[in-house]
Amino acid sequence: VTCRADAQALDAADPLAPVGDRFVVPPGVIYLDGNSLGARPSAVDLDDAVRRQWGNDLIRSWNRNGWWTLPLRVGDRIGALVGAAPGQVTCGDSTTVQLFQALTAAVRLRPDRRVIVTDGANFPTDQYVADSVARLLDLEVCRAAPSDPLPAGVSVVSFSAVDYRTGELWDLAGITAAAHEVGAIVVWDVSHAVGAVPLELDAAGADLAVGCTYKYLNGGPGAPAWIYVAARHHAAVDLPLTGWNGHADPFAFADRYAPADGVARARIGTPPILSMLALEAALDVWDGVSLADVRAKSLGLTDLAIARADVLGVGVMTPRQHHRRGSQVTLRLDDAYLVCQELIRRGVIGDFRAPDCLRLGFAALYVRYVDVWDAMDALGSVLADVQRLGRGSGRPAAGVVT
Ligand SMILES: Cc1ncc(COP(=O)(O)O)c(C=O)c1O
Repeated sequence: VTCRADAQALDAADPLAPVGDRFVVPPGVIYLDGNSLGARPSAVDLDDAVRRQWGNDLIRSWNRNGWWTLPLRVGDRIGALVGAAPGQVTCGDSTTVQLFQALTAAVRLRPDRRVIVTDGANFPTDQYVADSVARLLDLEVCRAAPSDPLPAGVSVVSFSAVDYRTGELWDLAGITAAAHEVGAIVVWDVSHAVGAVPLELDAAGADLAVGCTYKYLNGGPGAPAWIYVAARHHAAVDLPLTGWNGHADPFAFADRYAPADGVARARIGTPPILSMLALEAALDVWDGVSLADVRAKSLGLTDLAIARADVLGVGVMTPRQHHRRGSQVTLRLDDAYLVCQELIRRGVIGDFRAPDCLRLGFAALYVRYVDVWDAMDALGSVLADVQRLGRGSGRPAAGVVT
């Protein structure tokens, strides 16, 4: 791709181009932050949920409108996107809560071991939760990269499939196999991978996994997260958040907890139904979409962004090898914050991560090749202006999230 017309030609041949029409992206905006908050699928509309289901059907909706079964129903639909056979995923609560649920349960599957391994570059919430679980259960946390050898006595390994900062994609199957070889359980956070790269949790022998739904699954701000528990662990897994929704007989209102069979035991309390209905509608955009097409386009988009960054002389933190790259490109810039703000002012929305990273996310369902071309063109102009005006200073008082 050496000119804008080449990018347009790729869009004309793109099998996912019609899927882009299922999204709302405001005119004049190039949206490269779907790795943080996905764009709104136009079919997501809470009017029916609010007026009819809640307003009119009231409490009857738990049965009449399928609210009670919603977490498992949505769970199975997410499962289909991560290579999980039905009955292993449930939806609800935040990723942070699900991480606590998964890590604690994982540690309990290895009661005679003392070490949790997490990546020192993991998303903060993953590290904070690992530290807290360790304090709670009197364990140690060891920080290591997913590619490092595992220390002796490791009980649980907690990694992200895609690094939120650099966009590096880790070998989920290989790392899982290596952890199993030393008898450890693996908890994967696939927040930056689900909907962006094909995942095969069952085939990889994954134990537990959690993920976000407001990024590449486009479920909307604060959309509930999900947890995967491999079927082979269902009988033994002892989840710490023993809410009544996960009880074997919730409507018996028994005094003592008895876990439900299957992944239903990973349910906690009453879930955010409105948010989950929005997510359920958002998942419709995946109908008929091949994750292989998503991956191929994502690599095409990120290849183009990297090639244009090279032309601009900008440092690229994201791995260049396809098998090591998720669906974002992170650029290293001295004035990353200032450049990011100026790009947003010009309609190109990416985000800044301290201290010097400009993250550009490429959601293949709605980002076009020509968007990449125009965004990188805009970056070139911003860099020229910043250089001309002298260095900026600003750092954000509080970054906008994830
Ligand atoms: C890897 C990872 N885990 C977890 C989270 C967020 O957790 P929560 O949904 O609880 O805010 C993020 C947010 O960006 C993330 O990148």
